[in-house]
Amino acid sequence: MQTDVRPAEMARINTPELALAFIQKQIESIRTQVGDGKVLLALSGGVDSSVVAALLIKAIGKQLTCVHVNHGLLRKGEPEQVIKVFGEELGANLVYVDATDRFLDKLAGVSDPEAKRKIIGKEFIDVFAEEARKLEDIRFLAQGTIYPDILESVAGVKAHHNVGGLPEDLNFELVEPVKLLYKDEVRVVGEALGLPKGMVYRQPFPGPGLGVRCTGAITRDRLEALREADAIVREEIGKLPQVPWQYFCVVPDFKTTGIRDGKRTFDWPCIIRAIDTVDVVEVTPVHLPYELIDRLVKRITTEVPGISRVLVDFTPKPPATVEWE
Ligand code: XMP
Repeated sequence: MQTDVRPAEMARINTPELALAFIQKQIESIRTQVGDGKVLLALSGGVDSSVVAALLIKAIGKQLTCVHVNHGLLRKGEPEQVIKVFGEELGANLVYVDATDRFLDKLAGVSDPEAKRKIIGKEFIDVFAEEARKLEDIRFLAQGTIYPDILESVAGVKAHHNVGGLPEDLNFELVEPVKLLYKDEVRVVGEALGLPKGMVYRQPFPGPGLGVRCTGAITRDRLEALREADAIVREEIGKLPQVPWQYFCVVPDFKTTGIRDGKRTFDWPCIIRAIDTVDVVEVTPVHLPYELIDRLVKRITTEVPGISRVLVDFTPKPPATVEWE
């Protein structure tokens, strides 16, 4: 049984060889822990849960059931990628729940950022718990807990349970195979497991998803505009020889005048944010090349219905946070 303390002598996993050795060791320890028991995993498509899923599929195959909850606030193409990689290529037992309507109905008219986060968090637990109850004989819950989560939990910064707050009747034993790894090591392990590079080197994305970038009360049309604009921003900025640490856009809940085909319009602005950082405590804005900004302005205003103006947020943190909420 693993402890929650990383041994001082544990080498940093930074080569495919070290990753393969780790994977082999974890496969054995997962098999020892779960035997022929069934394991459940909330698979968001983020780096940590994806690596845990791939590891468990290798170790116990169909004894694992992955539940992918689409809360309607994911980026363009994300649920499809989870279904393709895990459902089709890796042959996982995958339960896909499209809960978009449920989340967006609950969020309708709610503009306070903390209230929005609470609704998304609670609804996620409810949907996941409902799916868990439909399955029989599940004894284990796998989680993509990583070492910084444990350190923060010890320091009292946050609770480390990714699916913390499950109802008491769902009393699972935890399986946390990457809990002693740092993020960079999780990525090396993910690559060694054969996960797509785009999934392993994904930029950070908040749990409440596009909900924090569709400020104020979320509406379906503005959320759709944000999702389309975000896909363009990721595609274009992703072509830079050195990509920023994080890059995305925000579509705020106010409109601005414009003109299209000789007629006056009243549409949303789109705000691009690209930042570099080491620890996200302090961040600096990335000075995007002007030609790239021009291309983004042109593509977003012509390809995304409802957006007629594009701005760039050049504010460091502090004083501004990364997300607009
Ligand atoms: P802020 O806005 O606090 O963001 O400067 C710092 C970093 O954290 C990310 N972020 C989150 N990540 N769950 C996450 O996993 C969340 O709820 C969440 N909220 C913000 C944000 O994208 C940035 O990288």
